[in-house]
Amino acid sequence: MDIRTARMEAIPGQGGLKTTAATGAVGTPTQEMAELQEIDPKGTKEADQKQTVLVTGHAGFIGYHTTKALLERGDKVIGFDNLNTHYDTRLKRERLAMLEEVAKATGSKYHSVKADLCSGPELMETLETYKVQRVIHLAGQTDKYLSNSSPQDCVQNNITAFLALLEACRHFKIHHLTYASSHAVYGAGFQKPMSERDSANHPQRLDAATQRACELLAHSYSHQFKLPTTGLRFFSVYGPWGRPDSVLFAFVKKILEGKPIQIYNDGSNTRDYTYIADLVEGIVRASDTPAQPDPAWLTELPNQGTSSAPWRVLNIGNNHPVSIEELIAALEQALGKPAMKEFITGPILEKSQSCADTTALQKATAFKPNTSLEEGVQRFVDWFRAYHQL
Ligand SMILES: NC(=O)c1ccc[n+]([C@@H]2O[C@H](COP(=O)([O-])OP(=O)(O)OC[C@H]3O[C@@H](n4cnc5c(N)ncnc54)[C@H](O)[C@@H]3O)[C@@H](O)[C@H]2O)c1
Repeated sequence: MDIRTARMEAIPGQGGLKTTAATGAVGTPTQEMAELQEIDPKGTKEADQKQTVLVTGHAGFIGYHTTKALLERGDKVIGFDNLNTHYDTRLKRERLAMLEEVAKATGSKYHSVKADLCSGPELMETLETYKVQRVIHLAGQTDKYLSNSSPQDCVQNNITAFLALLEACRHFKIHHLTYASSHAVYGAGFQKPMSERDSANHPQRLDAATQRACELLAHSYSHQFKLPTTGLRFFSVYGPWGRPDSVLFAFVKKILEGKPIQIYNDGSNTRDYTYIADLVEGIVRASDTPAQPDPAWLTELPNQGTSSAPWRVLNIGNNHPVSIEELIAALEQALGKPAMKEFITGPILEKSQSCADTTALQKATAFKPNTSLEEGVQRFVDWFRAYHQL
């Protein structure tokens, strides 16, 4: 073993495989694999298989599902995650164990590296050792109210980590860097639906400000070093194996326990919820089509979502906002149990409405999320009950 490889700590697989990641149905690894086999946009499968992809944050919710989909279509994947303790690491270790199973069953090459993007030589060593050609960056920190961490943590895990990644991508001439951003970058003053063509210069939350900063850092690297980069603005992602700090987790738990759900603004706030399998399809398709300079880009009237450099940002959302009341109704239906609701007033730290304009995504990838809320919520609830044996 190469000395550089030896210094990288492999993450051991552990725990059993319990549920289907994309659908939430209880099933075997083989059944799971059938679920996302279809991702092969634009017939690029053969070319893609020659690529080695680094997925950061592969122990996380979105990183896990993305890695799984890539392995299922035969890509070589290197996962990179520090397994931070922002939520129960058992969930992360179980996701990693399932990825080991998927790799074994598909015969796809897969390595898992436990390391931090911000410190140490591991990132550069990983890119060099495995001859990585493409990067999908899904490590990061969403912390709406900074309740679990400090502002310094947020800047470190979002901006410092991203800068380290940009440097590594530049050094190893990565073909395409695709990275997570968020609808929250639109912040104050957005149009509806939210379009990449509009300004995103007034984020309100710190994590959103760091994500916007990453988009701008990416632009400078795309411009100066011709590094193709795509920032993906995710809209409220949900599904099996999701983050325990998400709203769906909290609501399902409360309904099952017979405890009241606190609702702000009469339940009329709306949000664009995106089902995880749709999101993953968008991520993979975007990664498959490297950003290119926009020939129509005008200095005098700049499109905010593209550039004269190989840089772009794309929304991935459902383009179908639903109210909290509608979300709760879908959960009640899926659980077969009514919710107790408590309407309250209080500080609203987030925009009460989000809706993705998916025109640019459709143009770039020939894809638009299409899972209905009812279907996605049912899959989430089925997984939740199987996982917690409720
Ligand atoms: N889930 C959503 O609804 C949503 C919405 C908008 C944007 N996003 C963004 O998408 C990305 C992925 O979100 P998620 O829901 O999968 O979160 P997650 O917390 O489940 O996954 C993130 C992973 O990144 C790892 N990580 C964090 N900092 C790291 C570092 N410095 N070095 C190495 N690994 C590190 C964590 O250990 C974790 O496993 C994040 O950037 C998030 O802000 C998510």
